[in-house]
Parts: sequence; structure tokens; C-alpha cells
Amino acid sequence: MTKVLILNGPNLNLLGRREPEVYGSHTLADISGAAAALAAEIGLEVEFFQSNSEGELVEAIQGAIGSCQGIIINPAAYTHTSVALRDALAAAGLPAVEVHLSNIYGREDFRKTSMTAAVCRGVITGLGIDGYLLALRALAGILHEG
Ligand code: DQA
Repeated sequence: MTKVLILNGPNLNLLGRREPEVYGSHTLADISGAAAALAAEIGLEVEFFQSNSEGELVEAIQGAIGSCQGIIINPAAYTHTSVALRDALAAAGLPAVEVHLSNIYGREDFRKTSMTAAVCRGVITGLGIDGYLLALRALAGILHEG
């Protein structure tokens, strides 16, 4: 079965009560539930991991080598700073889609730079929970149709 790793970075464990006017009212469990339901429908298996630690996220990306065929990543604040996550994504060489709940281009200037976007196939930003589902559909297309 084709497997996709869905990674979420720092503070996303607080979704639902974290600045709901920016990030919406869905919790991380809502996101993982919706993604698992869609994955089952479109013939993908999904694995979820959230961490507040950059090193654990790097290890999760390395762990996907050989066990997963694609990655969806919301690197959260590490989007804007992490050469380590960018290098890990490049090293893994798996098709990856970067997702942000909020529109990073409509916010503070420091959020407009992504260290990780260039090593991803594409970026979905500002569409809330739907961004994860769109990313899953995109990866299904990439992985099943080549
Ligand atoms: C975020 C946007 C980032 O700038 C921020 O640091 C986050 C969440 C988003 O999903 O909108 O933690 O990645």
C-alpha cells in the first residue's frame, strides 16, 4: 500500500485553541481524522507525526526513507528558519507537499520566506484543513499516475 507521512511542526498540537481567528477551530485530531478518511477513499495509507522539536521532525523525515512514498509537511514556525528540515526533505528525495493553514503571504513579512518550499513539489497555503486534503489528492496523483 502506498504510504504518506503527514508531519506537523511546533505548536500545531494546540490547534483548536491556538489563535482560532488565524488557524481556525479544527484540532489536529480533526485534521488527522479527515485525512485518514480521505486516504482510505483514494487508496493511500497515512501515518501522522507532530513534534515541537526540530530534531524529531528531521528524524521522522529520515524514517520515511524506505517506509513511505510521499510526505505532507506543515513545518509551522520551522518553515521560516530550518535549513535542517530542508536538507532532510532533499535527502529523503520523496515527493513532498508543504501545507499551511493560514496564508503565509498575507501575514508578517518574516512568514513570507519558506526554507522548505523549494524542495517540495508544491505549497498549499491559506485553505485551512482543506489544504491537507488537497495535498493528499495531489500526492495520490503523483504516486499513482507517476
Ligand atoms: C503555519 C504558519 C507559520 O508561519 C506558523 O509559524 C505556524 C503555522 C500555518 O499552518 O499557517 O505555526 O505553518
